Amino acid sequence: MIGAHVSLVKKGRNYLGLCPFHKEKTPSFNVNREKGFYKCFGCGRSGDTIKFMQEYLHLDFLEAVVQLASRLNIHIPDEQNDDPNGEHARRDAALQALKAAVQYFQTVLDSSDGAPARNFFAARGFSTETIKEFQLGAAPATWDSLYQHLTANGFTLDQLNDAGLIVQRDDGSVYDRFRGRAMFPLHDHQGRTVGFSARQLVADPNSPKFVNSPQSVVFDKSRVLYGLDLARREIADVRMALLVEGQADVVSMHQAGFKNTVATSGTSLTVEHLGLLKRYADTVTLVYDADEAGQKAMTRAIELGVSTGLNIRCAVLPAGEDPDSVIRSKGAQAIATALDNATSWLEFQVDRYRKSGALEQPSGQSAAVRTMLGWIKSVPDVIQQPFLVRELSQLFDIDEELLLRQLSTTNKAQTPSHSEPSTRTETAQPQQQPPSAGTATRHLPRIHPAEREILRVALTVENGLTDIQYVFRLDASQFITDIARTIFNAIIVGAEEHPDLLHFLQNDAGLDIPAQAIVADILTSAVSPSTQWHRFEVDLPAFETHRLISNAVDQLKRFKLDAEIHGIKKQLSSTPDFDDQRKLLHRLDAILQERSALLQRIEHHSQQHSWPDVDSV
Ligand code: CTP
Ligand code: MN
Repeated sequence: MIGAHVSLVKKGRNYLGLCPFHKEKTPSFNVNREKGFYKCFGCGRSGDTIKFMQEYLHLDFLEAVVQLASRLNIHIPDEQNDDPNGEHARRDAALQALKAAVQYFQTVLDSSDGAPARNFFAARGFSTETIKEFQLGAAPATWDSLYQHLTANGFTLDQLNDAGLIVQRDDGSVYDRFRGRAMFPLHDHQGRTVGFSARQLVADPNSPKFVNSPQSVVFDKSRVLYGLDLARREIADVRMALLVEGQADVVSMHQAGFKNTVATSGTSLTVEHLGLLKRYADTVTLVYDADEAGQKAMTRAIELGVSTGLNIRCAVLPAGEDPDSVIRSKGAQAIATALDNATSWLEFQVDRYRKSGALEQPSGQSAAVRTMLGWIKSVPDVIQQPFLVRELSQLFDIDEELLLRQLSTTNKAQTPSHSEPSTRTETAQPQQQPPSAGTATRHLPRIHPAEREILRVALTVENGLTDIQYVFRLDASQFITDIARTIFNAIIVGAEEHPDLLHFLQNDAGLDIPAQAIVADILTSAVSPSTQWHRFEVDLPAFETHRLISNAVDQLKRFKLDAEIHGIKKQLSSTPDFDDQRKLLHRLDAILQERSALLQRIEHHSQQHSWPDVDSV
């Protein structure tokens, strides 16, 4: 087992080789095959096979056991025993479909249909080996080639839906999600394909530059870092990760020799991403695009990063460039120079303030210092804090003692994120109240607050609509009011086919005035479900979105059950026939059971809203 990763020579009863955990010229790494035990006399590391796999492949215990078992062809019977709902099997099938899709896109890339994508990769300077290493591919410019191919290979519609590979129209017909695009497979840290990011081949303002896999049973974009499967050995070796913004940047950086590079994909950085990196790295160097959006994202990454205890450094690229374009125009050396010149996050941030002019006024200065102190206070290692304060005092030329005193009264993390140095004051905006049937919707047609919540998530939360459709499988029929149903359908059409969804809803969706008023109200009231996350200006983590949706869906169900109970009771009182009454009572019993199960589930959710009863809507 260990011999698969380290070349070993038999020496007496043991095997000897070069230690994979430290750099050495003479072998001191001993393996005892019978006992399944290793020990390095150089660095002192030792353990059994599972420990080896944990340390060498950076797996957690369970992952190591599962991998070991599969190598030894041992079947771990979790699927039968621990899979009563078939969730495991469902995920497995989706993963198989994704794997088959990768192969298909690779085949297409090599065929005549792959010419546009081949040219695209060639223009990027990607070599054949690089293309293979990253399993890059091409989606043909047809409506359903992949769908046809995969169903011919035995995959079902549900499986392809779970895999996020297809889109289903209202009439039931199906087409490929990814068409005529360059395909970047996204892997989890174990190298399994969990989704795709698909890039446009010709600039077309009417279609999005990237189409990404939706959140699904196998894909959670806030937990996937592009390139991590290939980068993690190197990251763990140097304890440092390079974080860039785009897939193309990762590919180019690896090809140029910077093999500890990863990127988020189709989303901004989350704490989950950082947690994943913390498994391997102590330091993360941000190498973001040199444009305003990139620099802003860098500030956000700093704020999030320092609070997770990572050492954050910042590299600045020449104006207008991203890592991929720098490598092409100036060569790998230019990246090396930028990395050599990388600064601490404090220095980067102060520099940004300075360039923005925020430090020209004393009030701007004190706001900047306060923000920095808040971030320093959020560093989990309290021993680091005074050192950071010293750096801050030097950067601003402010008395260190004064800053230290100030630090002790500074609140960590909870202060609003001053991602922009500005005149924003502490009392900028009063907290909005959650929507309630009586107030926010008083002059509007009535829709159930749960419907409103679902529409709000669909309209304002990144990937909210895809989660609602594909994770919760909610469709228009589950809504209560016609008006909510109409709006929901319009959002689906708009999101699929129109780059500017809001413009579409306001002008072209055929919504009547009351429906438009509801949309406008949802957008303008902009209630943030979790003020915490809102302040950080990061995406809602998937679980938070999922909690919101699932809560709302449950409330819709409750409403419908209550309405049905209501109806049955009415019927009961007006039905003289005994048999009919018995049937109704049976039905009532079943619904009441369903309702009490539902209520139990709802109790589990931390309830923030109060929801109206049947009679009030
Ligand atoms: N992205 C996305 N959807 C968009 C735009 C961007 O998901 N409409 C994500 C992609 O993961 C992309 C990253 O944000 O890789 C960075 O975006 P951008 O800088 O626009 O793309 P590049 O990767 O630099 O693409 P290219 O160099 O090919 O223009
Ligand atoms: Mn780019």
